[in-house]
Amino acid sequence: MLITPARILWLFAFLVSAVSCASFTNPLKAKNGSDPHIVYTGGYYYLVTTTWTNIQVTRATTLGGLKTATPTTIWTDSTASRSGNFWAPELHWINDRWYLYYSAGTTACCDNQRSHVLQGTTDILGSWSYLGRLSAEWGIDSTILRMSDANYFVWSRFSPNGLQSLYIAKMTSPSVIGTPYLLSEPTLSWETVGGAVNEGPAAMYHGGKTYIAYSASYCWTESYQLGLLTWNGGDPLLQSSWAKTGPVFSSSNGNLGTGHNGFFVSPDGTEIWNVYHATTVSGGSCDGNRYTMAQKVNWNSDGTPNFGSAPSLSTVLQGPSGEP
Ligand SMILES: *[C@@H]1O[C@H](CO)[C@@H](O)[C@H](O)[C@H]1NC(C)=O
Repeated sequence: MLITPARILWLFAFLVSAVSCASFTNPLKAKNGSDPHIVYTGGYYYLVTTTWTNIQVTRATTLGGLKTATPTTIWTDSTASRSGNFWAPELHWINDRWYLYYSAGTTACCDNQRSHVLQGTTDILGSWSYLGRLSAEWGIDSTILRMSDANYFVWSRFSPNGLQSLYIAKMTSPSVIGTPYLLSEPTLSWETVGGAVNEGPAAMYHGGKTYIAYSASYCWTESYQLGLLTWNGGDPLLQSSWAKTGPVFSSSNGNLGTGHNGFFVSPDGTEIWNVYHATTVSGGSCDGNRYTMAQKVNWNSDGTPNFGSAPSLSTVLQGPSGEP
C-alpha cells in the first residue's frame, strides 16, 4: 500500500476523532443556561436551568450531547401565585421517585417568589403533578441535603437582619419541612459585593465529608462566586456545625460571575462534577445571558475539594469518566 500524504492525513483525522469522542467544550447551554442542575441516571444526563416561563429538561447520553439536544417542557402553571419566574429547578430522587424543586411566583418579579415541589414518577420525562409549597415566606433556590438521619431542606430567604441568607430545615416529607434555622449569613467582604447575598446551595459528599457549596454576592456583579460550608459532624441544623471558607470559585478566563452551581456524579461513579453558570457580560448578569459550564472537581492532598478555575470557552475538556 502506498503511503500517500492523503492517507497519512486520513489516519491522523481518524485517531483524533477516536480519542476525542468523550471530550467537549463549554458552554453546555449557551443561552438561558442560568442556575444549572444536572443528574446522571439510567444512561442519560438530565440538565435543568432557569427559563423563567416554564420548566424544561434537556437529556443526552454525553455531556457534550446536551449542547444540541432539544429541551422538553415538563411543567407550565397558570395558577397566579406560581405562574411566573420559574427559577433554579433541581431534580431529586426520594423514596423511589423523582421530585422537582423550584422557585416561582407571580408573573411580576420578584417579591412573591416561594419554593415549590413537583412530584414525578420514575421517568424524568414522564408526568409531573404539583405537590406543594415548602414555606409561606419569600424563599428561593431550594436543594436537598442527605444526612444519615433525615433529608434536610436548604434554601435562601431573609434573616432577621434583612440579609438574603441560607436556611436549613429538617424534612418530614418531600413537601413538608420543620422549623427553619439560619445556616449562613452573608457577612464577609466577598459575600457582600453589590448586595449581601447567600443563595444557590448545593450539597456534595466525598471521602466521608459533607459540604454545601453556595453562591455569594449579587448576581449583577462580577463577584458572584462560590463559597463552601464544611460539616463538622454536629447537628446539621446549627450554624456552628458548619465551617465557612471562600471564595472557592470565582470569575476567570473571561467567564464572569461563576456561580449557582450543582454537583453530579460521572457515569462510572468515580468523579464529582461541578455544573455552574457564567456570563461574558461585563458587570455580571442575572438574566438569560448566562451560559452553563461543567468541569470536574479535583481533590487536594488534605482531602479538601479543589474547584480550580473556569476554563476559557475554547478549552477542550475530557468528558466525565465512563461516558460511552
Ligand atoms: C431566555 O428565555 C426568555 C423567556 O423565554 C426569553 O425571553 C429570553 O429572550 C431568553 N434569553 C436569551 C438570552 O436568549
